[in-house]
Amino acid sequence: MSVRAVVEGVGHYLPDRIVPNSEFEDSLDTTDEWIRTRSGIERRHFAADDQPTSDLAIRAARAALENAGLTVDDIDGIIVATSTPDLTFPSVGTMVQKGLGMRHGFAFDVQAVCAGFIYALTTANSMIVAGQAKRLLVIGAETFSRIMDWSDRSTCVLFGDGAGALVLAAHDGKGDNTDRGILASDLNSDGEYRDMLFVDGGVSTTGQSGKLRMQGNALFRQAIDKLAGTAFTVLRKIGLEDDDVDWIVPHQANIRIIAGTAKKMGIPMDRVIVTVQDHGNTSAASIPLALSVGVASGKIKRGDLLLSEAIGGGLAWGAVVLRW
Ligand code: UT7
Repeated sequence: MSVRAVVEGVGHYLPDRIVPNSEFEDSLDTTDEWIRTRSGIERRHFAADDQPTSDLAIRAARAALENAGLTVDDIDGIIVATSTPDLTFPSVGTMVQKGLGMRHGFAFDVQAVCAGFIYALTTANSMIVAGQAKRLLVIGAETFSRIMDWSDRSTCVLFGDGAGALVLAAHDGKGDNTDRGILASDLNSDGEYRDMLFVDGGVSTTGQSGKLRMQGNALFRQAIDKLAGTAFTVLRKIGLEDDDVDWIVPHQANIRIIAGTAKKMGIPMDRVIVTVQDHGNTSAASIPLALSVGVASGKIKRGDLLLSEAIGGGLAWGAVVLRW
């Protein structure tokens, strides 16, 4: 017997404002065609000016709780993956706690940029397996629209806002790959790549939150190799092959990265959940958003073997294998 962190519920929230690519054509030297063909993005959601990351996270958390048929009384703690918090502190996690009316347990944030949800899931799994918590809300929530340089066409057309959430709970498993829940994870980072993707401000430097800067093409060249590498590693850790995967649920940065990674793994695109066309790159929110959309569409079913992988600022990258 072994303890497994099993998904009991999933939900998401996207802000009301939908921005099609064509909206950028007025203010930038860009086209809908360039954005579609280079990134796969067709539209993205932007939060309202008075709508902070915590608001998105609270709505996604409520949806996941409802999906699980649970209330906050059933939750021991909250982990939020975000790089765009409402304030420098306190954590978005504690704001979600307040928003849900939860006066017990604990809450904190994890910051690993676009790989944030992989890091948060791994943290949550470790806490559940160690017996530190029985049931956790794990949320990815971002408002990247707040850190865009609207004059930089090479970045501002790529990102969007949103939130997704899972309820993860301790269940008894047999200890083999047929168990439901998180089966393995693999985390990596290398700070030498700092300049490839960063925000040029912060509390202890400029005193401003700053704007996102990215060497897109250099990062693109790293992404597929590192994502396929972490996918290979995480599957082999538990003796699985690429073809055992029913669904890849990847970070949604660029359709060419998603397709290139799937191709390297020998998995056809009809076994990949793709939301990048509708959401753009929502950083730590993109995987839980894709999970929620994949389940709601009827594609992901109980018992399916899922592989999620992500790479982003740091660089930080990693993968999780879980049976739904
Ligand atoms: O989630 C975190 C991880 N993020 C990523 O993984 C992003 C990785 N990178 C990418 O997705 C791609 O590199 C981009 C979508 C950012 C760019 O695609 P690319 O095929 O690598 O294009 P590029 O950067 O090599 O740029 C090609 C050309 C350049 O013009 P020149 O120098 O060839 O004349 C750019 O200036 O496209 C130009 N360009 C644009 N043109 C029209 C850059 N942005 C735009 C734009 N509209 N919005």
